Amino acid sequence: MMPNRRRLLIAPSILAADFSELGKQIVAVEKGGADLIHLDIMDGHFVPNISFGPSVVKTVHGLTRLPLDTHLMIDNPDFFLQEFQKAGTTYLTVHVEACRDLRRTISSIRELGMEPGVSLKPDTPLSSLDDILPEVVQVLVMSVHPGFGGQKFIPESVARIQTLRATISSRKLKALIEVDGGVDEENASALVVAGADILVAGTAIFRSKRLSSAVQALRESAVNK
Ligand code: DX5
Ligand code: ZN
Repeated sequence: MMPNRRRLLIAPSILAADFSELGKQIVAVEKGGADLIHLDIMDGHFVPNISFGPSVVKTVHGLTRLPLDTHLMIDNPDFFLQEFQKAGTTYLTVHVEACRDLRRTISSIRELGMEPGVSLKPDTPLSSLDDILPEVVQVLVMSVHPGFGGQKFIPESVARIQTLRATISSRKLKALIEVDGGVDEENASALVVAGADILVAGTAIFRSKRLSSAVQALRESAVNK
């Protein structure tokens, strides 16, 4: 581990949870050391899948004290910013590919009192973030093609995180790097070494045999290898 590194944050994605046991499972990951709860919002247009909307986010908000990290994989996110704020979102991330005026969307998120993030798909060049980096608190690097949990991690994501970390450092910016998709105990350490601050994990946590220790196991694999 590099000295002076910020603490690694773990964000379980409830997309992989058992929704008939959602309350219990959220309590288990919170007790198990999770830092955020990650909520994947999919509209069937921006990505080829539909997940859930603000009412589920609101329910989750009532189940935990952890900050909610809402990842909008939807077209026209501007129409829904306030809905997600009312539902209890702390960190709201939009996709660079979905925003006509990204700067305006990011400032609306801030004006609503949330912490803005920006995400990009695996094939979108990092240079698409050049102008917005100073305005966001986090960059969510997709390490699978968005739309589904349980996909295989795209190995090139490690180099993308390294490049992004170098850019953020050389510009003396503060944005955190979040990585999302196929994160597990095998790749977590490489992601942290490359510069990730936040690991999102759905399958690796909610499909683990021991949910209560899954967050800690992922954290240990990330920092002890
Ligand atoms: C994918 C979502 C991810 C997903 C991650 O489009 O953005 O957050 O839930 O799931 P795993 O960890 O199973 O790849
Ligand atoms: Zn996500």
